[in-house]
Amino acid sequence: MPGPVSTGQLFDALYKTRRRITVTEQRSPGRRVGEVKVLLTENIHPAAVENFERNGYDVELLTRSLSEDELVHSLPGVTLLGIRSNTKITAKALDAATDLVALGCFCIGTNQVDLGAAVARGIPVFNAPFSNTRSVVELVIGEIIALARRLPEKTNRMHDGLWDKSAKGSHEVRGRTLGIVGYGNIGTQLSNLAEALGLRVIYYDTADKLSHGNAQPMATLDDLLAEADVVSLHVDGRPGNAGLFGDEQFQKMKPRSLFINASRGMAVDDQALRAHIESGHIAGAAIDVFPIEPKAQGDSFESALRGLDNVILTPHVGGSTQEAQEEIGHFVSRKLATFHREGSTELAVNFPQVQPPPLRSGCRVSVLHHNVPGVLATLNQELAQQGDNVAGQYLSTQGDLGYVVTDAAKPLSPESLRQLNESEHTIWLRAYDA
Ligand SMILES: NC(=O)c1ccc[n+]([C@@H]2O[C@H](COP(=O)([O-])OP(=O)(O)OC[C@H]3O[C@@H](n4cnc5c(N)ncnc54)[C@H](O)[C@@H]3O)[C@@H](O)[C@H]2O)c1
Repeated sequence: MPGPVSTGQLFDALYKTRRRITVTEQRSPGRRVGEVKVLLTENIHPAAVENFERNGYDVELLTRSLSEDELVHSLPGVTLLGIRSNTKITAKALDAATDLVALGCFCIGTNQVDLGAAVARGIPVFNAPFSNTRSVVELVIGEIIALARRLPEKTNRMHDGLWDKSAKGSHEVRGRTLGIVGYGNIGTQLSNLAEALGLRVIYYDTADKLSHGNAQPMATLDDLLAEADVVSLHVDGRPGNAGLFGDEQFQKMKPRSLFINASRGMAVDDQALRAHIESGHIAGAAIDVFPIEPKAQGDSFESALRGLDNVILTPHVGGSTQEAQEEIGHFVSRKLATFHREGSTELAVNFPQVQPPPLRSGCRVSVLHHNVPGVLATLNQELAQQGDNVAGQYLSTQGDLGYVVTDAAKPLSPESLRQLNESEHTIWLRAYDA
């Protein structure tokens, strides 16, 4: 006599006939997940490969990006896909990705993905929004000191063969005031490191923020500009931030103050900044981001800020370090595996976010459904009718979609799963055994 059928086996069989249901089997680390294929493009950091392989996934790592046609050819059979910024994920590519469960962008941005097309196909997209925070902060700290000591000017003169030993215009940063505009992930970490260097920190944010250390919030941007010896911009890319810093803001900065932008190029009027550096009102600047940036390695770079003394220009490398790449590899691979094995959509960029606890016993079912009234009541009623007791339930909605994760102490009855799957509002259902 065959033994009892596990949730995983049952729905593995159903999956072959009904595309709506997908199944994972919960496995402890080190055991194989089964035929679960992970495709990683663009030489994603080995940390991701190790993470997946340690958890029993089959990984294929490509060193380059894939074109749309190559994706259409390669994606059938792929359960988890990892890309960086050069692989464009279009609706056509997603249509070919009949087995795809989740997509990971092993980078900060997700512009390369048609997020609407992904969500319309029930595919959550993950990225790594914080993994390079520390790298940006360390660059900015270095720039504050370099500008205060006028290092760009000094090193240029040395390369030109000129020995110009002078303390004129060179300052310590200790005791100076750093004004941080945008006190988010990067702004707050900068605040902590800057205080450790002996800077006084003030900040301005449009949202209410908890002060770190001794940092002081400013009521308005103008208040900050009036007090700061160094202004460092760390705002996000919302459309309202276009042109945030122009002639008026530079005029309001203290004479001989320093300006740093490692956030968004569009937030700063580079012509206005140039004028204030040439007039001597601004004593130096470090700029990592530009309104228009070259697309490819080796392209020529045009900017109003080229050729100025005491100005550091860097090619959008604030977050580009080996450490950040490794952290991105860890972070996104964990997000993909945790979604695949436990249904967590925490930090998915296009999906209702639900973070259930790790599944240690019993069984779990996750349902993506149309966001209409009564879905949850129907789901619970169906479980109750089959005598399935709910041990925990986690849900969230976003736009037209709802996502609910339900834990039960004992495996759910096949009839419950069948009914949930057949509900008119179910988009997909996944079942997991502990
Ligand atoms: N140079 C790089 O390589 C690099 C790397 C990573 C991030 N970034 C950029 O750095 C910026 C900050 O990143 P983060 O992770 O700290 O973002 P975040 O979303 O955590 O923080 C942004 C903060 O800015 C605030 N803000 C928005 N508009 C504002 C305004 N007009 N005035 C004052 N405060 C405002 C928000 O309330 C938020 O607290 C982003 O634009 C990000 O894209 C650049």
